[in-house]
Amino acid sequence: VKAVLVRQGGVLSVEDAPDPVAGPGEVVVELRASALNRRDLLVRNPPGPAYRFPLPLIPGSDGAGVRRDTGEEVIIYPALGWGPREDAAAPEWRILGGPDDGTYAELVKVPAENVFPKPRRFSWEEAAAFPLAALTAYRALFQVGRLRGHETVLVLGAGSGVSTFAVQLAVQAAARVLVTSSSEEKIERARELGASGGVLYTDEGWPEAVRELSGGGVDVVLDSAGATWGKSLRALRRGGRLVVFGGTAGAGVELDVRYVYLNWLSILGTTMGSPTDLHGLLRMVEEGRWRPVIDSVRPLDEAEAAQERLRGADHFGKLVLTPG
Ligand SMILES: NC(=O)c1ccc[n+]([C@@H]2O[C@H](COP(=O)([O-])OP(=O)(O)OC[C@H]3O[C@@H](n4cnc5c(N)ncnc54)[C@H](OP(=O)(O)O)[C@@H]3O)[C@@H](O)[C@H]2O)c1
Repeated sequence: VKAVLVRQGGVLSVEDAPDPVAGPGEVVVELRASALNRRDLLVRNPPGPAYRFPLPLIPGSDGAGVRRDTGEEVIIYPALGWGPREDAAAPEWRILGGPDDGTYAELVKVPAENVFPKPRRFSWEEAAAFPLAALTAYRALFQVGRLRGHETVLVLGAGSGVSTFAVQLAVQAAARVLVTSSSEEKIERARELGASGGVLYTDEGWPEAVRELSGGGVDVVLDSAGATWGKSLRALRRGGRLVVFGGTAGAGVELDVRYVYLNWLSILGTTMGSPTDLHGLLRMVEEGRWRPVIDSVRPLDEAEAAQERLRGADHFGKLVLTPG
C-alpha cells in the first residue's frame, strides 16, 4: 500500500508499506481522502515527549473511505479508546496517527467502533476534512463552553481549520460570532461563513476592540493560540468562559490571577471529543447547510508541500490529501 512515513530526523517519505491487517474488532478502510492537522507537524518534529513516537510511523488522524469488509462509506473518529467518561478521555486514550499508524495512506486499520457513517451531503474531501477539527470545535463550543443561541463567541485565528468549523457551528446554533486574525482578508472570509466581524490580533489593543464590538465583552472565547490567554480574558464580559485547546502561538503564559476571580471568569481546557460529542456533531451536520472549508487538495505524494503550507500563514481551512 502507498503510504507517507515519518522517518528519523522528521523526514517524510512516500513508500510502499505492508498492507494493514485487521485484528479482532478492527476494520480496514480504503481511504478516498485524508486531512492534515497541526498535530501532524508536531508528530513529525516533536517539541516534547507527548509527540515522540517510535518511527517509522504513518501520520494523519483524519480520513474518509470505504470499509473493506462491508463496503460502507465511512468517516474515521480519530480518538482511540476514549473510554466511558464524558468529562475526559481515559488515561490510555490515543489519537490516530501516533503511536498508531494513521491516514496518510491508501489503507488504514482502526477499531470497528471508530468508523461512523459518512455524512451524505459531503464529498470525500469534505468528509475527510472535518472529524478531528469539527469535533474539537463542537465540544469546545457546546459541551465545555456551554454556548447558547443568544450569546456572543470570539474565535481566535480565523484561518485555522478548527476555527472555520467553530464559526460555522456557532452560527448554526444562532450565536453571534466574532473572530481575530492576522489578515483582513481572512476576517472577510470568516464573515462569508457567517461571522459578524473581527479584529486583527496584530493590533496590541485587540481585546479592547472586541469589548467595543460586543458591547462590553463576549460570553465565550475559543483560544487555540495559547500565549494569548491574558488578552482573551480581557475580551470576556464578567462571568465569561475562556475555552482553551491549543498553543499555536506558544505554550507559556503569565496571568494576574486576581483578574480571573475578581471578574468571575472560568478557564476551561478541552481536547477533541467523546463518541457522544461526535453523534451530536453528526446531528448538526445533518441539519446544517454549511460545508467544510477546504484550503487545498493534493495527492498523497505531495504531503510534504501540504505540510509546508500548513506550517506557513497563508492557508484558510483544511488541507486534504487524496490517494491520487
Ligand atoms: N486539543 C485539541 O483537541 C486540538 C484539536 C485540534 C487542534 N488543536 C490545536 O488548535 C490549534 C489550531 O489547530 P488547527 O489544526 O486548526 O491549526 P491551523 O489550521 O494550522 O491554524 C493555525 C492558525 O493559528 C492562528 N494563529 C497563529 N498565531 C495566532 C495568534 N497569536 N492569535 C490568534 N491566532 C493565531 C492563525 O490564524 P490566522 O491565519 O487567522 O492569522 C493560523 O492560521 C493548534 O494549536 C492545534 O494543535 C487542538
